[in-house]
Formats: sequence, structure tokens, C-alpha cells
Amino acid sequence: MIKFDYRSADVSVIGSEHGLDIAQEFSEYREKIANIITDLNKRKDKMGQKLQWMNLGYNEETLWYVKEYASLVQGRFDNILVLGIGGSALGGLAVTEALLKPYWNLLTPEQRDNFPRIFFLDNIDPDTMNGLLDILDLKRTLVNVITKSGSTAETMSQFMIVKNRMKEEMEDDYRKNIVATTDKQTGVLRQISEQEGYKTFVVPDDVGGRFSVFSAVGLLPFALVGIDIDEMVNGIKDMDLFLKNTDINENIAAQGALIHYLMDTKKGKNLSVMMPYSSRLKYVSDWYVQLWAESLGKNEDLQGNPVHVGPTPLKALGATDQHSQIQLYNEGPNDKVINFIRVGEFDTTLEIPKIFEYTGIGYLGGKTLNELMDAEADSTKVSLADYSRPTLTITIPKVNGYYLAQLLYLLEVQTAIAGELYNVNAFDQPGVEQAKYYTYALMGRAGYEESARMLQERMSAIS
Ligand code: PA5
Repeated sequence: MIKFDYRSADVSVIGSEHGLDIAQEFSEYREKIANIITDLNKRKDKMGQKLQWMNLGYNEETLWYVKEYASLVQGRFDNILVLGIGGSALGGLAVTEALLKPYWNLLTPEQRDNFPRIFFLDNIDPDTMNGLLDILDLKRTLVNVITKSGSTAETMSQFMIVKNRMKEEMEDDYRKNIVATTDKQTGVLRQISEQEGYKTFVVPDDVGGRFSVFSAVGLLPFALVGIDIDEMVNGIKDMDLFLKNTDINENIAAQGALIHYLMDTKKGKNLSVMMPYSSRLKYVSDWYVQLWAESLGKNEDLQGNPVHVGPTPLKALGATDQHSQIQLYNEGPNDKVINFIRVGEFDTTLEIPKIFEYTGIGYLGGKTLNELMDAEADSTKVSLADYSRPTLTITIPKVNGYYLAQLLYLLEVQTAIAGELYNVNAFDQPGVEQAKYYTYALMGRAGYEESARMLQERMSAIS
């Protein structure tokens, strides 16, 4: 199982000014946490609660359709191009980076077991988009356009550009190279897909973008590049069962949520750093940052009172950022909870050769990079503790589909519980929607004329 270690956030290790008496806090919050977990598990079966993501591990139908389509198109494409942004891209990036062989897109087809290369176009930089389109043979590319709302300006602009180029190159055959993942009924992409006859998959109702990685949003691209999605689903189910435990002493999602909440509200530590000691898990931090920020950063509580809460998430990578951010984490303001993710066993053991023994680097010879990575994480944790900085450590036994799915699901449940502790709606994102509407207005979308006028006035006042 995944392990969670919170000792370095405890008063016994980092002192009473910055540490929590965790045993005492667990006992005080025992009932509240039990109620939260029971309540979430009850509400997840009711539509309208935005908790359908808790049921995605049990959606056999989606699993079947995704696998069927992936096997149908296998061998037809050299590239998968995913168009999407935010929750429609970050889970895909995190999982493919972690589970595919490193440098996947540079490998030969044989080295990729004849599965396609995969590209995520998660931004609208004209240079990078044009550059990518220049190197892709669109006839041999399957475009998976993903947008829950079906109208996000970034994703739909990418799509319009790609679709036009495909049509120029392939005439009417281009339709077979497009698969859309969107709402089952509403939105512009649904409308276009029906008119044009694209193959489609559904972003289920009541699943927010940042909680959608285990729907067709993630599962389809994963299956297309040969990731074992059954293994992932098994991981989610096992973790879901484990996290149903209402006892805070046994429930690691509740422990993480409570410690973060108390560190923020009692100890003034409102920054949450995600720092995996694994390059393959690098994009898990990007995914976590969105999850934590959009879910918990809210300006009103569940009763409608103004609150402006939410810990700010930051991303870092071990050991790389020991040479960048750790100076600040050790000696700057003591306002952070640092989350390490450690890997029990890497797939490879890489020995450092015994050379230059007569020099100051001779001590490295004969050791492994694995030992060095462990030493880096251990030493950083101890040095942070020396400076009374709290750390939490999640250890996954290996980077594989089973444990990665467990890790992501664990962080989703932790976020949901944190939302309850902060007493905010963790499943909406009005701040994101507002920025989207402003973009629509500035780009001249019909129905947004009044906002466009107001924005022009505001912009001329500040620029
Ligand atoms: O979590 C969210 O809801 C957002 O970040 C969305 O995922 C993002 O804005 C993209 O939205 P859509 O999938 O509707 O294009």
C-alpha cells in the first residue's frame, strides 16, 4: 500500500511553535472527520453533488467502450494529439509522463511496442502549435479534442486550426481522425460532433474537469498508447475501499486534509508544496496544483459568508529544486507544508562507476543513483526539520498504473475532505468561469457585448 508519514509535522519533531500535536488533533477531530467521510460517501450517489468522480472506478461501461475503440484503431495512427486545457489535459499529462517509457516520443515504433506517440497541446502559443503541426503527419494522427463545456476558447481554437489543416490534407476522410470527449448533450463541441459525425466519448455529469482523469478524459488517451487501464481501475477501487474507513487514525486522505487545514488555520502555513522525488511524477505536481487551487480557493463559504480561503499550492521537483527552492523553504518565511512523494523502488538500478577514486567525488563510485536519490530526500527532510519546517511524505511502492491511480485518487479524496474542513464548495470554479467569460467578451462572442464594453473601459483605465 501507499504509505503516509506525518511525523515531521509533529510537535515532537519540529517543536510547538510550528508543529501540531497530531495525536491530540486527531482525537479532537475524530467525530467531525468520521461525519465528513460518511457524508461524502452518502452524497456521492446523488446527482447534483458533483461527487460522481468517486464512482469513476466502477464505471465498467466506459472502460469497455474505451478499450474497444482503442483496439479498433490500434495500428492506424502514429500519433495521438490531445487538445484540451486545465482539467482536460493535466491528468493526461501526469499519467502518460509517469507510465510511458521515458522519452516515449523519441523511441522507435518497435521500442513503443507499435503504440503511437502522444502530444498534449495544452496551450495556445502560436509558435509551439505551429511547430508541432509542422512535424506531425496529420493523416497518421488521431486528434482527441477534450472539453467538458464544449466551448473553451483555447481548446476550440486549437481544434479549429487542426481541423482545417486536416481537411485541406485529407478532404472528407479527416473525420475518422477525430475523436471528441465532451458533455453527453450540451455544448458546441457536442453539436459539431453530431453534425460532422465524429466518434465521441462522454465527460460524465457531475464530474468537474480537475476530477475527471479517471473518466474517458484520461482513460481514452491512456488506452490509445497502451497503458493498462484495468490495472489503474483496480488501484482506484482498492484505494476507494481503504478511504471509506471513517477512523482518522486509519484514513490517510483525512490525515493529509486535516494536517494541511490546521497548519493553515492554526500555524499560518498556507502554502502547500508538492515535491515528488521522481522525474516521472513531475506532472503530478501540475495536476495537484490545479486540484488544490481550484477546489479550495474560494471567496465564500457554504453558507454564503465572505471568507477568501485556500492554501496556495506550489510545485517543486526533488532533487532538482534542492538547488533552487530549498534555500527559501529552509530559511525564508515558515509558511509552507512540504509534501514529499517518494518511490519505494525505481524500475532501474543505475550504478555510478568507480572512477576518479583519487578525487573528491570518489565516494560516489560504487553507489547507485537510487541510493543518491534516497539520500537527497532524507537529507532535505532532516534539514527542513532542523529549521522547524513541516513535511509530509507519501511513499508509493513503485511507479506503475496501480499505485499511480491510487495516489491520484488519494489526493482527490484529500481535497474533498479539505473542502469540507474549510467549509467551502470544493467542486465549483466561479473564478475560472469569470476569466473564461471575459475572454469570450474580448474575442467578440455573441451575447457578451455588454461585458466587452465594460472590459474595454476597465482596460483603458489601467493601461
Ligand atoms: O477544473 C476545471 O473545471 C477547469 O480547469 C477546466 O478543466 C478547464 O477550464 C477546461 O474546461 P473544459 O473542459 O470545459 O474545456
